[in-house]
Amino acid sequence: MSQITAIHAPFIYFKENPFTNNDPLSSIHYEEDGLVTIENGHIISATSWNSGRATLTEDTPVDHYPNQLLMAGMVDTHVHYPQLPMVASYGEQLLSWLNNYVFPLEARFSDQNYAQHIAKSFLSELLRAGTTTAAVFCTVHPESVNAFFTESTKLNTCMVAGKVLMDRNAPDNLRDTPQKAYDESKALIQQWHGTNRQLYAVTPRFAPTSTEAQLDVAGTLLAEHDDIFMHTHLLENKAEIAWVKELFPHRHSYLDVYDKAGLLRPRSILAHTVHAQEEDFQRCHDTGCSIAHCPSSNQFLGSGSFPLFQALKPERRVKTGLGSDIGAGPTLSLLQVLSDSYKVAQGLNTSLHPAQGLWLATVGGAEALGLDHQIGNITPGHFADLCVLNPAATPLGRIRTENANNLSDILFALMMLGDDRSISATYVAGKKVYQKASSS
Ligand code: GUN
Ligand code: ZN
Repeated sequence: MSQITAIHAPFIYFKENPFTNNDPLSSIHYEEDGLVTIENGHIISATSWNSGRATLTEDTPVDHYPNQLLMAGMVDTHVHYPQLPMVASYGEQLLSWLNNYVFPLEARFSDQNYAQHIAKSFLSELLRAGTTTAAVFCTVHPESVNAFFTESTKLNTCMVAGKVLMDRNAPDNLRDTPQKAYDESKALIQQWHGTNRQLYAVTPRFAPTSTEAQLDVAGTLLAEHDDIFMHTHLLENKAEIAWVKELFPHRHSYLDVYDKAGLLRPRSILAHTVHAQEEDFQRCHDTGCSIAHCPSSNQFLGSGSFPLFQALKPERRVKTGLGSDIGAGPTLSLLQVLSDSYKVAQGLNTSLHPAQGLWLATVGGAEALGLDHQIGNITPGHFADLCVLNPAATPLGRIRTENANNLSDILFALMMLGDDRSISATYVAGKKVYQKASSS
């Protein structure tokens, strides 16, 4: 018989979507002294300690986190693992930033050993930040994908990733062709999609670096595999948008370039979408695709302010998650991304409630990836992918938390002041994969 394990801690889970509730906090269930039991990597129950403790036997291992907060592991819906070594590179906007910093580094990922070394560091940093699932760009090299999924498999993390497709407007050593894109992606799908917890995304980088023939290949791959993902960038930067207009003069809009190639459907992830018009949001809603909101990256590159509350308009809601977008984003911590998200929303005269923020970082991200039946909440039957938060992890956090008088205030302070130091432990499928050293 398999071993039952347990976590004894205050916990939160979401009963409903706080964006459709006039009182966002009431969408959270808070258990002040909680017990979560786990078996075979899945959550079995989530109750109060008092009502559940009798179900434990003397030899049930119990991890105890008093005065902390257990919630679902966070979900990063857009990030580039190969860009980890060039994070925080100075002074450019999107297109020159790609040419000057990103492409020279991505060329190194033809070397599987280097790719595996960076993939390992990336996954370790992700778990240290409390993130347990991510949608991840690799590079054009199949080696970069093999390296990433190999490292993810060792940790049993659920990851969505794929080989980047680029057949123009990129250096020679980063270009493939439509045929190569098809053959290599097809082989990777067959090798990795649905292997353990690994999931494949067809990944055309963005419209400027793919010919129409290559985007059609991406559409063909999606048509041949109903349950795979699509991952790309959209409407991030004004110069990029003008370039797409030049390259695709016969298309009605940037989104239409992807639409005509058959790329828009559930599990299609569009990163940024900063400069979307109402008709773009409507089309995303109609086709069921998702947006990755990347406020830290958008601020870092000066790309603009994504209108989150417009995207989430209840009558034609577009599924939206948060993206760190490393290396344009300077942090993997979705708590820091939430802090930026709050500030960007304020600039647009909207306020992101902490219940809404933490929902975006967990359930919203899982929903954007079509994985909300498996991850993103503390729900019996879900994978036990979890993180333990400590609102008082830093001297400032401690002072602020002592002065907080309700759950909403504590969660908001965590969202504004928290970072990787706020993560005490991270669990993947019930196994503790990160424990913060007590001295740090
Ligand atoms: N658009 C095309 N490629 C990239 C990339 O690597 N990062 C970001 N932020 N935008 C892109
Ligand atoms: Zn990106």
